[in-house]
Amino acid sequence: MPQKIIIDTDPGQDDALAILLALASPELEVLGITAAAGNVPVALTSKNIRKVCELAGRRDIRVFAGCEGPMQGSLFTAEYVHGATGMDGADLPEPTMPLQAQHGVDFLIETLMAHEPGTVTICTLGPMTNLATALSREPALAARIKSVVLMGGGLFEGGNVTPAAEFNIFVDPEAARIVLSCGAPIVMMPLDVTHQVLTTAKRVAAIKALGTPLADAVTGWLEFFERFDEAKYGTDGGPLHDPNVIAYLLKPELYSGRLCNVEIETTSELTKGMTVADWWGVTQRPKNAFFVRDVDADGFYTLLTERLARLPAKP
Ligand code: RIB
Ligand code: CA
Repeated sequence: MPQKIIIDTDPGQDDALAILLALASPELEVLGITAAAGNVPVALTSKNIRKVCELAGRRDIRVFAGCEGPMQGSLFTAEYVHGATGMDGADLPEPTMPLQAQHGVDFLIETLMAHEPGTVTICTLGPMTNLATALSREPALAARIKSVVLMGGGLFEGGNVTPAAEFNIFVDPEAARIVLSCGAPIVMMPLDVTHQVLTTAKRVAAIKALGTPLADAVTGWLEFFERFDEAKYGTDGGPLHDPNVIAYLLKPELYSGRLCNVEIETTSELTKGMTVADWWGVTQRPKNAFFVRDVDADGFYTLLTERLARLPAKP
């Protein structure tokens, strides 16, 4: 029986790879994809999601636009990493599949209320505004969610927007606080993991060698997306963040971590958006998240490349 998932995402080249990995995997049933405001505004992320679905030959997927910005404050975007379109590096045609009329938050509420409790997993790949707004509007959702698997945060790796904060949490720390404290089972995929899965030249070449237009688009995205982090970290390749959320659902044995308390700093100007994870158990605070710290990076890329090969050669 495939795992039922909803993907909440702000494409973003790495988000695009996560969506492709999910659509290439029969173990997963994608009930819908909701667009978050993050890397670029939601008008662009909701278009980018549809571009990716059409690239994968999946015009059947329902795509919903979500909230325009964070629960508090104004939207901070990342064109400096992802480019003006949010998916620079490959030119895909304007999508022709429709955007659903329903708001993404209403879709989250309606879907979670309609399915048996404990049967739908929420995969958040961007700021968690949509999910937090849904939880605030309908608190009963928390007990119905099978689990939230989120890309965000960092502990030993610090932050990537400020020394303390990772982008997805930094953009909407209040949303992160709401999700982390809602009581649903949480799996957190932080920079501590994603900084171990670098898009090295060898790994990108293996994807390129698939020799399809889809593989060309993917490697175009990766070669654009990695440039910023290669310059910043001085590494061969950059961290590939979001597909780890989907890979965790497909092969959890690739990952290891521990259940611990994670709180979000929402007020300090210096550390706003910091994920304060009690990895060493020095507090009595409730252990509300499975904090993933290690990954079999080669195993991740073997899975990703094998699944990309399954997607249609031509859009
Ligand atoms: O910090 C990395 C995260 O921020 C990724 O999800 C990337 O797509 C951006 O949303
Ligand atoms: Ca993202």
